Amino acid sequence: MSELETLERTLLADIDAAGDEGSIEAVRVGALGKKGSISELLKTLGTMTPEERQTRGAQINALKTTVADAITARKSALKDLAIAERLARETVDISLPVRSSPAERGRIHPISQIVDEITAIFGDMGFSIAEGPDIETDYYNFTALNFPEGHPAREMHDTFFFNEDDKGERKVLRTHTSPVQIRTMEAQDPPIRIIIPGKTYRQDSDATHSPMFHQVEGLVVDKSANVANMRWVLEEFCKAFFEVDQVTMRFRPSFFPFTEPSFEVDIQCDRSGPIVKFGEGTDWMEILGCGMVHPNVLRSGGLDPDEYQGFAWGMGLDRIAMLKYGMPDLRDFFNADVRWMNHYGFRPLDMPTLFGGLSA
Ligand code: DAH
Repeated sequence: MSELETLERTLLADIDAAGDEGSIEAVRVGALGKKGSISELLKTLGTMTPEERQTRGAQINALKTTVADAITARKSALKDLAIAERLARETVDISLPVRSSPAERGRIHPISQIVDEITAIFGDMGFSIAEGPDIETDYYNFTALNFPEGHPAREMHDTFFFNEDDKGERKVLRTHTSPVQIRTMEAQDPPIRIIIPGKTYRQDSDATHSPMFHQVEGLVVDKSANVANMRWVLEEFCKAFFEVDQVTMRFRPSFFPFTEPSFEVDIQCDRSGPIVKFGEGTDWMEILGCGMVHPNVLRSGGLDPDEYQGFAWGMGLDRIAMLKYGMPDLRDFFNADVRWMNHYGFRPLDMPTLFGGLSA
């Protein structure tokens, strides 16, 4: 057998044996690449006599064509094989159950749920929602709410201050939702019936405090709003929110600069078991602060206290969420742990309504 025939046989066997694109490419480089066995033979063409070129030269060229064609054919066969394999591997078993949609798998965070529940309750009583900025001026967060300069109540709030701006003013992260009372009175005429859910900030962090937390504020201003109205509104809210027929509430005298008189409200509950129960038992739990809007606050809002009066309240959303849904540690709310969300979160399509049930 001639040397060319041996080479052809070896190369064709290698091509046949190549099982993937990488190895066929290696064969191609070995034969037809710059220093490949056939390329080296082609280089000898220049040194041949015309006769040799006609015989041996033609043989070498024929070898080149045979090998190149075999490589092309093998490459395309390997490609088809890869596709066939992939098709076999990626078959779909249409008898399997359909995977649930994101709308079913997603979860509503308990805080969003609580805001929706509170909105449903107060919406039913004719309240609307008001909002304001998280970054507030000292004026709206304190001064307009009747915290005089240097008053110790300012320190009770553990405020986050920004650096001075070019006007020498230090903005704050709002420490409560109360500034939105002033913004609302400035923007709309009485009668005012609003709730203000939102984020609030204080330098505090443990199992029941987080530097960012949530409050919902309420404000009613008209010509006759009084303590009895406030009591009724808060009682109706608590019954609806805790989904019980009866609640007993206790109004204790308290102090807030922006209300006079001021109260703290406790709700009757039973704390003997692992979950707090409302509407029964002999324990009390503080749930909110409230009072009649201070005349100075009405004035800050551009209203005449001889003509208008109002009541307001504020409560911690995170806290009442923890109470209602039995979540022990507030920090878990903001850890973005998907396992916690799967456990405590709510189904996105179950909107809380008074007629359909708040948390059903
Ligand atoms: N702003 C108060 C706080 O953050 C809560 C509060 C108490 C709001 C009494 C009110 C109110 O509107 O009347 O501690």
